[in-house]
Amino acid sequence: MIFAIETSCDETSTAVLSLDGKFLSHIIVNQQNHKKFGGVVPEIASRAHLEILQTIVPQSLDEAKIELNNIELFSATCGPGLIGGLLVGSTMAKSMAIGRDKPFYPINHLEGHLLSPLITNKLNFPYLAILLTGGHTQVYLVENIGIYKLLGETVDDAVGESFDKVAKLLGLGYPGGPVIEKIAVLGNEKAFHLPHPLEFEKSLNFSFSGIKTAVSLLVKNQPKINKKIKNDIAATFQSKIIEILIKRTTLAFTILKKKNYEIKDVALVGGVAANKKINESFKKLCNKFNYRFVFPTQEMCGDNAAMIAWACLQRYKKNMKPDINFKANPRWSLGKIVSL
Ligand code: KG4
Ligand code: ZN
Repeated sequence: MIFAIETSCDETSTAVLSLDGKFLSHIIVNQQNHKKFGGVVPEIASRAHLEILQTIVPQSLDEAKIELNNIELFSATCGPGLIGGLLVGSTMAKSMAIGRDKPFYPINHLEGHLLSPLITNKLNFPYLAILLTGGHTQVYLVENIGIYKLLGETVDDAVGESFDKVAKLLGLGYPGGPVIEKIAVLGNEKAFHLPHPLEFEKSLNFSFSGIKTAVSLLVKNQPKINKKIKNDIAATFQSKIIEILIKRTTLAFTILKKKNYEIKDVALVGGVAANKKINESFKKLCNKFNYRFVFPTQEMCGDNAAMIAWACLQRYKKNMKPDINFKANPRWSLGKIVSL
């Protein structure tokens, strides 16, 4: 059995995974105490992780009908993320590992997301992964477990972050993604004009901060912000985000084809992958290019310990080494941008 903890942001999660790949328990607690602040407050998050873990660690063992003695490997997210939360989760998992004299695997949160579609799908390596979260917007070539080529990323805000910021400007609370998605259906996506930053750039980088600024000016210039205007702004914003993501991914596909780089599968991962309109747009694009499109289940799109346990299992199966001395690193990256 593998026991995993995820505490990099505002979800506190634990999972028990058997070494033959079956989940025996998975608990995700979304911390609710950040809502009134319109974003995650790091200190509140780390204190909440400490409290919640004390409840859900025993609860997940109970659910799995096992005892601590049955755990062979311990793992936790060690970065990137908020340092307080990372320290709480990784220290708890390391302490359990030391107490039982078992190995500890530090897991990179981004690796967890990148491998998350493999939990419910068979994928062929190498596959292209578009990672869209609250902190990252990146394009990777996943060549194998532990071999990730970063092809492009945002130069400023992440996609999820821009959903959150636009929701805040519209007074819609946190997290912004789900609520923007919900009201965008009711709005007119052509109601306003928003910019397309880096439109003619030939790299696979993104930029989203200009859109947030444009939305903030739009909001300021409205004599009155009623429901209809909110719906229209949400629809226009979401549609512009999709236009940007699809344009960049099309460029990535074109580069891959031009360089004769063989891929069969494309994965959309991270919290934003739960957005149906974004998901459908990617599906259509992949169909056009004859790539198979895969994505994690709704539960595995957002932050969760199942993907951390899963990444740990893949590392273990590849004989990769555990490391109890690995220090939580809020900026742990999977590598610098490379060109194909
Ligand atoms: O992967 P994730 O749970 O946490 C990070 O690693 O950051 O992603 C969280 C982000 C938040 O910014 C949230 O607003 C966004 O994912 N998100 C969405 C949707 N659900 C969550 N964005 C757009 N549409 C959604 N349905
Ligand atoms: Zn995440």
